[in-house]
Amino acid sequence: MINVNYDYASIVRNSEKVAWLVDDVMPRGKPLDFSRPFLPEALAPTRSIACLSDEERLTLNHISGNAYLNLFAFLEEYIVATAVTHAQAEMFGDHDALRALTRFADEELKHQQLFQRYRDAFDRDFGHECKVLDEPAAVAGVIMSNGAIAVLLVTLHLEIMTQSHYTECVRNDLGVDPLFASMLKHHWLEEAQHAKIDILELNKLIEGASAELIAKAFDEYLGIIDAFDGLLAQQAQMDLDTLAVACKRSFTGEEVKEILAALHRGLRQTFLHYGMSHPQFVEIMAQVSKDGARRIAHHAEKLI
Ligand SMILES: [Fe+2]
Ligand SMILES: [Fe+2]
Repeated sequence: MINVNYDYASIVRNSEKVAWLVDDVMPRGKPLDFSRPFLPEALAPTRSIACLSDEERLTLNHISGNAYLNLFAFLEEYIVATAVTHAQAEMFGDHDALRALTRFADEELKHQQLFQRYRDAFDRDFGHECKVLDEPAAVAGVIMSNGAIAVLLVTLHLEIMTQSHYTECVRNDLGVDPLFASMLKHHWLEEAQHAKIDILELNKLIEGASAELIAKAFDEYLGIIDAFDGLLAQQAQMDLDTLAVACKRSFTGEEVKEILAALHRGLRQTFLHYGMSHPQFVEIMAQVSKDGARRIAHHAEKLI
């Protein structure tokens, strides 16, 4: 079992205190400021790409920011579905748990609306079509075809990762677009409550679970990570295609290799490493299964 010092009632109280409105964080019609980076270098590393000018690096940063929001909206699609399932299990049961879980689902839908509003503004102001992954429902179906414990491990990974994106990468970077930074701050505030809910739900699932079932969950978690890595490689190619159109230039074979490698490395760092290697996630995994935690650490090293 995972040690916790909170319960559903305290989570609901905290989530009521930090709640915000989409209209306040991203007002309708707000123009985007393309003179500044949207993401910090830690989440969209472009400095190492020698074949791009500073202006092209900034454009690539904006393309990466748009892809970042799309990927989140994409992932939160399945999280809404699982939060509703967990809430359903508490129907006529613990009302604090039911409130925490229904707020959780509602907040993820709100995050999707926030990100979509920013992406609509991006499409309006960027001036070029920006390619992004679509079919979130199909990906949600693939993730949810795994066992409930594995799905919850992925969700916890994503929610702890989201928090470190803001606290470690964005909060102290004064050069980032303030609107984008504010969006990630507000996302972090609610994700901090979601991660606690994940842990309480995980405790329900692992209580009494056999060692075989737990080991299978880690197999499935790592399988989902690898499938996600495949999607990140696709997104890297899409970002490169968009960059070529936006900068009106073609790239040599060597330049393509350099840009793609940097983009894929950055996406892996942002979406996989910040979760798999986060000290809180590592500690919780060790409480679920020492062998599982060791396997995740080994897998994270392979993805560097
Ligand atoms: Fe979210
Ligand atoms: Fe969340």
